[in-house]
Amino acid sequence: MSNSIQESYPPFGVSDGINTNDEAEDLEESCSASASIFDYPYENGRRYHAFRAGRYLLPNDEIEQERLDLAQSVWLLINDSLVTRSPLEQPERILDLGTGTGNWAIEAGDLYPEAEVIGVDLSPIMSEFVPPNVRFEVDDIEDRWLWKKDSFGLIHGRSLSGAIQNWEKLLQNSYDHLCPGGYLEFQEIDMVNPFTNNGNSLKAGSPLMIYTELLHEASIRNSSQLDVASELGIMMERMGFVDVRCERQELPVRVQQSNQQDSKRSQIAKYALPMLQMSIEAYGMALLTRMLNMSELEARVIMKKAEDDMLESEGSLSYNAYDPPLCTDKEDCVDANTIFSYFIFGRKPEARTPTSSPAKKTPAHVHT
Ligand SMILES: C[S@@+](CC[C@H](N)C(=O)[O-])C[C@H]1O[C@@H](n2cnc3c(N)ncnc32)[C@H](O)[C@@H]1O
Repeated sequence: MSNSIQESYPPFGVSDGINTNDEAEDLEESCSASASIFDYPYENGRRYHAFRAGRYLLPNDEIEQERLDLAQSVWLLINDSLVTRSPLEQPERILDLGTGTGNWAIEAGDLYPEAEVIGVDLSPIMSEFVPPNVRFEVDDIEDRWLWKKDSFGLIHGRSLSGAIQNWEKLLQNSYDHLCPGGYLEFQEIDMVNPFTNNGNSLKAGSPLMIYTELLHEASIRNSSQLDVASELGIMMERMGFVDVRCERQELPVRVQQSNQQDSKRSQIAKYALPMLQMSIEAYGMALLTRMLNMSELEARVIMKKAEDDMLESEGSLSYNAYDPPLCTDKEDCVDANTIFSYFIFGRKPEARTPTSSPAKKTPAHVHT
């Protein structure tokens, strides 16, 4: 990971104000928030965030942090070790939304040593070992932002699908806080229809399909729709961003033995399969129990069947060499089970354009 590590303890702070208008209230809430951000609630065997408890439905425990580390390896591999696809010059300030353990922010801090990098999250689970130009804050990105407007050269968010309830507001805040010419970028995985078999959907009625459909329904009930990735480009254009690109890329999850000479695809799959295996419970537990009122046992049965289905050689995620792959370069994706990753990025124009303009008829540019 990082070479230029400096120990910084504690590596994060709760934001100066907790996004209320009343300063006294801010201070009071800030103090109590500092004391309670580690007061993690436990539910059905998993640990969740304490600050603004209930806002986000994935856990923040050690198991989840391991999952985020696996995901970091996957993202770096599919993106040729680049942290961003935005054509940046030298950003002075970078903001990482929902930074988690801070993996992306640390990479960005190393890559742009002159920039000030801020990572923000509901959970104080960030790494203690950070480059000197990286710092972390605990705050809710769905609330009022207290950073300086027009100040960031890059605002980035990764794997926020299913976390955000009001994307319009998040995009508006991002627009307002980017400097003219600055970029907003999201890196997302489609978790609702994630598993394709050489371009086909999951088998209807299969345990994985049942799990996925329930997850989708639960995320809609929570107003945090999981399949937002393909819509973000259009939303960004409506908000006034320009040169918006939505790049969709296959992410191999299983590569057939005979095809393992393709070391890059095999390497990605080596991390992607266990990461997705862990994602089944990470995404499923609170969504299924809290939103669909299932018992822990009911949820566990559904999740276990989905996991077995994903791992079994004859399961829904099994190989099928006869189905045509979706990607254009046939050689590159034959015999692999894939899901889709999305890189969505766009620029705030130099001159302000009107926001919330009527929906454009043309779809956002999806490049595969
Ligand atoms: C799936 S994790 C991704 C973490 C990190 N971006 C990465 O790629 O490693 C989503 C993160 O977003 C954070 N998050 C969700 N809703 C948030 C909110 N309203 N404000 C701040 N952070 C939030 C969660 O706490 C979690 O750490």
